[in-house]
Amino acid sequence: MSTDEQVLRVGLVGCGGIARSHGRAYTANPRARLVAAHDVDPAATKKFAEEFGTAPCDSLADLVAQDVQLVSVCTPPGTHTATTIALLELGVSVLLEKPPTVNLADMDLIAQAEQASAGSVYVVFQHRHGSAAKRAHRLLAQGALGAPQVAVCETLWYRPESYFDPDWRGNWAGEGGGPTLGHGIHQIDLLLHLMGEWTTLDARAARIARPVEFEDVSMAAVSFANGAVASVTTSLLSPRETSRIRIDTTGGTLEVNHLYGYADADWSWFPLPDAQTLAANGVDPGRSSGDGTPATAVTDVWQAAAETDVPSAHAAQIDELVDDLLAGRSHPTTLASTRPTMEFVTALYASALEGATIARADLTPDQAFYRHLHGGLSAQRVSDRMRTV
Ligand SMILES: NC(=O)c1ccc[n+]([C@@H]2O[C@H](COP(=O)([O-])OP(=O)(O)OC[C@H]3O[C@@H](n4cnc5c(N)ncnc54)[C@H](O)[C@@H]3O)[C@@H](O)[C@H]2O)c1
Repeated sequence: MSTDEQVLRVGLVGCGGIARSHGRAYTANPRARLVAAHDVDPAATKKFAEEFGTAPCDSLADLVAQDVQLVSVCTPPGTHTATTIALLELGVSVLLEKPPTVNLADMDLIAQAEQASAGSVYVVFQHRHGSAAKRAHRLLAQGALGAPQVAVCETLWYRPESYFDPDWRGNWAGEGGGPTLGHGIHQIDLLLHLMGEWTTLDARAARIARPVEFEDVSMAAVSFANGAVASVTTSLLSPRETSRIRIDTTGGTLEVNHLYGYADADWSWFPLPDAQTLAANGVDPGRSSGDGTPATAVTDVWQAAAETDVPSAHAAQIDELVDDLLAGRSHPTTLASTRPTMEFVTALYASALEGATIARADLTPDQAFYRHLHGGLSAQRVSDRMRTV
């Protein structure tokens, strides 16, 4: 433990691309000090250490010995479980990059290790932490935006064939899952965070154009405990890229349109005009003014609740995490809080590959998809299920 109560000492494992976002966020935060880094590739460790002024460490034990309280795990998804469990056994807390694991079995192993450790595990889902998502979460939970009824969640991105050139990309062994796990998971996590408990889903996964072992497009229809329904699409074949969540409630339409990160301005709230006010003004309550704005001004609970604009970058979550840990409280994006998202991804593959409706309750340890997102099916069977023509 650091003797300086006001500064959190941090280490980092996996000095590749996304490690730089962690490095920049810790460096810009006066209450955090990034002191140590480790990568299996010594050259990567050295380069990162020079860039961020950290101690280069040749093992996890060496890293933890630098008196760190928190370690960012920025390694590829298939290594998350072993690395996180080793760090928990060394007694430190972990900020684990998405996807937390590549299956539910691994997630439960980490949860067990967490129970036995002085450390805790938090997961990077930075889109929960921008100011607008926090506002949306709070107002929806209070019922101030009405009750959700219909939602649309889209991750329409584009990855050319060359994206899959590295050996570890495009296959189950290297990635653990397809774009639903690797790309769509950001919007899926935010949708579930805003909508609450999901119950059942029906899905289709299709391999249309890319040289991969899994899907390049997936689509799911999902039901929620509150009676709402949503459609969820993830694609890597969409040239005009967008990330979008739209939630239609009994009170209006809440929408975010962005790509890899949003600011407050990327969100909109379209309140349903109050029926009595409209009728008093001689307006048909069932119609808007026609130009996309409500026919009558109503109290805008969305704008009224605005706070300082915090975009949904890594810094948004890391700044909050540093404050939480220094104040001795838990951080909201715990490992456990992300299990419904991993259950959703698991159920999507199970539904698409088995052609069945999947309930969350079906995802027990004896279910084939609990251990592998391909459910242990042969490559031929997966191909047959994903064929579109
Ligand atoms: N939150 C986001 O927006 C976001 C964006 C991109 C990537 N990610 C996630 O970040 C993680 C890393 O992705 P990346 O694009 O930075 O990958 P990367 O390949 O650029 O970097 C990974 C690094 O980890 C090292 N490594 C591999 N196994 C290791 C091990 N066992 N111990 C120590 N180091 C090890 C590699 O040598 C490499 O330097 C993935 O989980 C990915 O899904 C998140």
